[in-house]
Amino acid sequence: MKIKAVYPGSFDPVTCGHIDLIRRGSVIFSELVVGVADNPRKNHLFTTEERLELIIEATHDIPNVTVVSFKSLLVDFAAGSGAKVILKGLRAVSDFDYELQMSLTNRRLASDIETVFMMASEEHSFVSSTLIKEIAELGGELSSMVPGFVERALKKRLPGR
Ligand code: PNS
Repeated sequence: MKIKAVYPGSFDPVTCGHIDLIRRGSVIFSELVVGVADNPRKNHLFTTEERLELIIEATHDIPNVTVVSFKSLLVDFAAGSGAKVILKGLRAVSDFDYELQMSLTNRRLASDIETVFMMASEEHSFVSSTLIKEIAELGGELSSMVPGFVERALKKRLPGR
């Protein structure tokens, strides 16, 4: 059975943890649409277009992965993409409460769309975009946490490094 999924997030910026999940998700699902949330209320370091471009660069070799941005409710984005599954990554117990709340809310909004969780690989289970920005700002070593082109984009955006 062919199952299409969406993998949503802010991706500010995309990390090795996200990329690992996209790769593993692309093996399980017939098509995986990475959805970059375009939420003007969030104070992002990178624009929606920049976040999108970095993910495209990171996933260009995976044929069944596409990358788009969305402004709508996640369930409407999933339905509009023809996907019945929302893929999410779980790193640690600390992710659980928020993810549970979002998955139950999304189920209330659209009961035919299922949220499926995959555990982050242990190698990346501590990596977060928020910490990556802080490390970049303070000049720390990032090469095992983000691809080289993301590190370069961070250096350009945070010249204080
Ligand atoms: O990477 P993030 O910031 O944890 O991703 C959060 C995201 C984009 C998945 C969430 O904010 C979202 O689903 N936004 C779309 C708007 C929406 O549907 N809100 C209700 C979700 S319960």
